[in-house]
Amino acid sequence: MNVLVTGAAGYIGSVIVADLISNGHVAIALDNLSLGHRNAIHPNAIFVPCDLSNFDQVSSVFSTQEIDAVIHMAGQSLVGESMQDPGKFFRANILNGLNVLEAMRHHNVRKFVFSSTAAVYGEPTEIPLSETSECAPINPYGASKLQFEKILPWYLTTYGIDYMILRYFNAAGATDTLGEAHTTESHLIPILLETALGLRSKFEIFGSDYNTRDGSCIRDYIHVSDLASAHIKALEVISQPTSRIYNLGIGHGYSNLEVLEAARAITGLPIEATIGARRSGDPPVLIARADKARKDLGWSPRFVEIEHIVNSAWLWKKKYPNGYVD
Ligand SMILES: NC(=O)c1ccc[n+]([C@@H]2O[C@H](COP(=O)([O-])OP(=O)(O)OC[C@H]3O[C@@H](n4cnc5c(N)ncnc54)[C@H](O)[C@@H]3O)[C@@H](O)[C@H]2O)c1
Repeated sequence: MNVLVTGAAGYIGSVIVADLISNGHVAIALDNLSLGHRNAIHPNAIFVPCDLSNFDQVSSVFSTQEIDAVIHMAGQSLVGESMQDPGKFFRANILNGLNVLEAMRHHNVRKFVFSSTAAVYGEPTEIPLSETSECAPINPYGASKLQFEKILPWYLTTYGIDYMILRYFNAAGATDTLGEAHTTESHLIPILLETALGLRSKFEIFGSDYNTRDGSCIRDYIHVSDLASAHIKALEVISQPTSRIYNLGIGHGYSNLEVLEAARAITGLPIEATIGARRSGDPPVLIARADKARKDLGWSPRFVEIEHIVNSAWLWKKKYPNGYVD
C-alpha cells in the first residue's frame, strides 16, 4: 500500500514510516519540519515538504503521488501551550486536518487513520477508560482532537472515506535509531533521562498528594513501536472495521515515582528529583481499557514493563544525547 504519513518527521510519525517500510509498504512522508527532524525520516521514504495549512500544497501532494491511505499525525500537542493559544490548536488540529480530508475526497483516497489522544476524555469518570467513556476535554488540545474526531463520520457518510481513530495514552520509548527529540519537551521519560545526563539540573514531580498508591500521578505508557504496529493493523482492517475508535495503551499504569525509580535503576544514576505543586488539569490516574484493540485489530503491545520502555529510551538517548542533527 502507498501510505501518506503527515507529521512523518515527528516522534511517532518517524517510527510509523520506518515500520511501514519494513512491512513492505511505500511511505510518503509529509512534514513542514516545524517541530520534526528531516534526519528522523527513513532514507527509503519519499519525503514531501508541505505545510498542511496551505490547501494548494496539500492538494499538489495528492496530484503528484500515488496514495492509497493516509495516517494523519501532524498537529500541535503541547497541552500547556494550548491553554495559552487555543486558536493555534484549533487551526492546526482541525483546519489543517480538513485540508487533508478535502484533498483526499478530490483525489479519491478513502482510507484515513487519525492520531487522537486520551486528552479527549478529560477528567476520567471511570478507570480504566474505555472507548465509550464520557469525553469531556479540559484543555483546547483535547477539545481540538475531539472536534476533529466528530467530523470524520460525515466524510464517511458523504464521500465514503473509511476512518479509524486511535486514541493514544502516553507514547514513550525508542527504537534503535528513532527516539523522542522535542525542542520543548513535556514528557516524563525524556525529561528524566535528560536530567540523568546532566542536560537539566533537576526533575520536578508535580504533586505527591494525589489519591494514588504513592501520591504521584499514574499514567499508561505505550511504546512507540507498539503504537506503530497498531497503525499497520488498523490499515489492514479499515475497510471492514468492527469499530472505528480504539484506545492504545497497555491497560496498566505506572506512577511518576515508579517511573523515576525505573529510570534511576536503568541509568544507574541518582537523578535528583524535587516534589513540586500539582499542575492544574492533571488527572490523578489515566489508564486505558485496552482490550478492544487487542481483540479487533489482532494487536498486542510487546513492551508492557516500564523498565523495558525506559531502557529503550535510555539506549537511544545515550547514542543521541542532542537528538537529531538537522
Ligand atoms: N506523544 C504522545 O504521547 C501523544 C499522545 C497522544 C496523541 N499524540 C498525537 O500524536 C501525533 C504525533 O505526536 P508526536 O509526539 O509525534 O508529535 P511531534 O510534535 O513529534 O510531531 C508532529 C509533526 O507534525 C509536523 N507538523 C506540525 N504542523 C504541521 C503542518 N502544519 N504541516 C506539516 N507538518 C506539520 C511537525 O513538524 C512534526 O514533525 C500528534 O497528533 C499528537 O497529538 C501524541
